Amino acid sequence: MSHSPLSILSQVDFNGNPLSEELLAKTFHQLMDEHGYVLMCNVPDTFDQVRFCRALGAFVPNYTGAVVGDVRPEPGMDDVYHAGNTRPLTPHTEGYDFAVLPPRYIALWCVTPASGAGGETTLCDTRPWTQALADDERERLLEHTYDWKTTEGVQRLGLDLKTRHPILEEHEKGLIVRFSCNNLLRDDDDPVAELQERWQLAFETEHIAVTYQRNDMLVWDNWRLLHARNAFTDRSRHLRRIQIAA
Ligand SMILES: [Fe+2]
Repeated sequence: MSHSPLSILSQVDFNGNPLSEELLAKTFHQLMDEHGYVLMCNVPDTFDQVRFCRALGAFVPNYTGAVVGDVRPEPGMDDVYHAGNTRPLTPHTEGYDFAVLPPRYIALWCVTPASGAGGETTLCDTRPWTQALADDERERLLEHTYDWKTTEGVQRLGLDLKTRHPILEEHEKGLIVRFSCNNLLRDDDDPVAELQERWQLAFETEHIAVTYQRNDMLVWDNWRLLHARNAFTDRSRHLRRIQIAA
């Protein structure tokens, strides 16, 4: 089950004229604060995504070093857990495998939509979940640090990243959530296993699913939301991707 996105921003107004840069930025930030994500639609071919993202913060390079990354099926990557194939991705935050703070925002925009079923980006807000945590569990998630590894796909690119972070981290600019269903290293009887199960289940029932039209651009707060992907069949699906620091 999935819900339609609520936080949608049209780049053109009711008359079909482009919004001014000021109004676009103002509404974008209002929607981002409220929902933690914004889906921009009616995006003209002339829209400069890189320029828009630069106004949000400093760029964080993708794993390959490319600032603007490509998300599309890559040769020889179909057998691993990796964004560069057609398989599903489980709910996670980006950058738990970075030594530094995870990127604050992730921007994805659609070059070529997937025809046929699947390929939606799915998102869910963790804010209600973290606010509802009992004090003792919250304390444990803030204080206990875990070892994290990177994905199989990124390992195959030659990067073997290992980090140690808590699930929750207080920061002056907000609470940071780090989450993975498969790259958080723990014992079977660790209490965090139950949290992973609970959040994965909550994600399944509460997530919104974004079906891309060409040029649609999705930006979300990666400290606050979990994201995932539905499997797809069309190997011409192509998104571009920028990560932005706080
Ligand atoms: Fe991701």
